[in-house]
Amino acid sequence: MSNDSLRGPVLLTGAAGFIGSHAACALLSRGIEVVGIDNFDPFYPRGIKEANLQAVHAAGGRFTFVEGDICDGPLVSSLLNDHRVAAVIHLAAKAGVRPSIVDPPGYARANVLGTSVVLDAAHRAGCERVVVASSSSVYGNAPVAPFHEEMDVDAPISPYAATKRACELICRTHHHLTRQPVACLRFFTVYGPRQRPDLAISAFMRKIAAGETLQVFGDGSTSRDYTFVTDIVAGILASLERIPAHGYRVWNLGNSSPVTLSAMIEAIEGVVGRKAVVERMAMQPGDVERTWADLARSTRELGYLPATPFVEGLEAQWRAMSRAMSRA
Ligand SMILES: NC(=O)c1ccc[n+]([C@@H]2O[C@H](COP(=O)([O-])OP(=O)(O)OC[C@H]3O[C@@H](n4cnc5c(N)ncnc54)[C@H](O)[C@@H]3O)[C@@H](O)[C@H]2O)c1
Repeated sequence: MSNDSLRGPVLLTGAAGFIGSHAACALLSRGIEVVGIDNFDPFYPRGIKEANLQAVHAAGGRFTFVEGDICDGPLVSSLLNDHRVAAVIHLAAKAGVRPSIVDPPGYARANVLGTSVVLDAAHRAGCERVVVASSSSVYGNAPVAPFHEEMDVDAPISPYAATKRACELICRTHHHLTRQPVACLRFFTVYGPRQRPDLAISAFMRKIAAGETLQVFGDGSTSRDYTFVTDIVAGILASLERIPAHGYRVWNLGNSSPVTLSAMIEAIEGVVGRKAVVERMAMQPGDVERTWADLARSTRELGYLPATPFVEGLEAQWRAMSRAMSRA
């Protein structure tokens, strides 16, 4: 993706978040102007998101940031119009499976209403294209793996997953009515520097380093298709470039190389250089057994090819965490 292919800046929602801050850096490094919005949702500390934004500012380039809520239609519209935005990358959401079970209405508001507001504003402002973050969680406990985009996704098992599936349907309807190109990207457990603190790799690295006990849910045989954030960002940029040729399209962005929970802990022990102390707990409601991306469509249509081996990605995350902890 280069700035030649876009008529103007990109509005990036969730710019202060984990993936958002990496997407911002990648766009800026390609000479693309970025307008970021984020409301510093209290799901994890504001200080972490402010540090993410510092990393974006340090990348150089034209970056404007506004603190605000994507459910605020007039605000989103004024950002789109005032900056003559050409495209939207919509990553803002309440993320996390387990907390969504405690607060379904909060997830529905931020994710479903928020996406609806962003799409409507993007259409009214005449944006060329929209890319929206979905999730591998829409596959639920699908009986067949790897998961491909045409599979039945009518049985999500958490409110978070249901909101992401609802967003995909809203995007499809929006495209049908407006012809505005919309891509929905199913990210598979993303990790790497600046990973959200609630996610397992980040939490386990911190706990193993501190000698604290890890609470491990299930017998360790569940698996996730961990995908390094740089690979995800490459997929986001490719979809932004190519969505006009497709209209509405769902693409998996994963690694197609699932790792069991036990193997993940062992790999982190190797990277951190310390053994984990583990307390086994029952499987949690809402957690799926496994995720595993079929990448045939995204490779064929986006040229998407994840390139980061798991241990290399863990090492990069651990280096970044160690630097952040030594600054704190
Ligand atoms: N990290 C993963 O493994 C993963 C996997 C699948 C899908 N996703 C999706 O990718 C996107 C980014 O995830 P992330 O891991 O970077 O999460 P994140 O929580 O770090 O980033 C999301 C950002 O959105 C902001 N936000 C939430 N509600 C908002 C609102 N109403 N208005 C404005 N900003 C709001 C938050 O403050 C946060 O900074 C999300 O849509 C998430 O559902 C992430």
